[in-house]
Amino acid sequence: MASVLRVLALFLFAAACADAASIVVTNKCGYTVHPAAIPGGGTQLNTGDSWFIDVPAGTQNGRVWGRTGCGFIINGTLGQCQTGDCGGTLVCKKVGAQPITLAEYSLGKKGGMDYFDISLVHGFNAPMSFLPTGGAKCSRGGPSCPVQEITFDCPSEQRQKAGCSNPCDGKGSNCGPNNGTQYFKQRCPQTITYPRDTKNTIYTCPAGTNYEITFCP
Ligand SMILES: *[C@@H]1O[C@H](CO)[C@@H](O)[C@H](O)[C@H]1NC(C)=O
Ligand SMILES: *[C@@H]1O[C@H](CO)[C@@H](O)[C@H](O)[C@H]1NC(C)=O
Repeated sequence: MASVLRVLALFLFAAACADAASIVVTNKCGYTVHPAAIPGGGTQLNTGDSWFIDVPAGTQNGRVWGRTGCGFIINGTLGQCQTGDCGGTLVCKKVGAQPITLAEYSLGKKGGMDYFDISLVHGFNAPMSFLPTGGAKCSRGGPSCPVQEITFDCPSEQRQKAGCSNPCDGKGSNCGPNNGTQYFKQRCPQTITYPRDTKNTIYTCPAGTNYEITFCP
């Protein structure tokens, strides 16, 4: 019953503001993920759980990522996360600590289109897909980086406790396809692997499209 009301509420919300979006974040990993979102805050997703984020129309530079290896709750905030921690708080004001697989989007940009991608510029910590729902009018689906092995096959100098860091992280435009990012590009060619890696990595849908982000798709 609650979920029926939830769906009805989402429907009414969507009808009221046509270009707002809902993003459903689902965890299909065999472990708990603590996703964070700007805007949206954060939550805990056990295996099989979903989280619904209502995103206002016109949101620019929206971001969703998953923190993994998080400790128990202390004083109402998370204790420690191996990846994607943000000062121990659930609602981060900025992108969390690396490495993190990052879903990025802007709603209703040029020509009334949404732009979205998955970026590995801040490294990799969780397999992820970012797909439009009912996206018949979208250019071409959405990006997916489903490869669990990235964490295990990561070059030793990039290996982290719960992921793989990107040598381009924080290097801005001074980093390209030959700076140790090939590893990510081979595994997940649909993703952005260095700051100017925009060819065939940016996806578009008409404003008003809804999305689903899945960990371990
Ligand atoms: C929880 O908050 C109280 C009061 O601010 C503080 O004294 C205590 O050290 C905190 N506990 C932890 C584990 O941070
Ligand atoms: C990346 O590679 C280019 C070309 O080889 C080089 O000029 C640049 O300094 C490198 N950047 C970093 C951060 O290593």
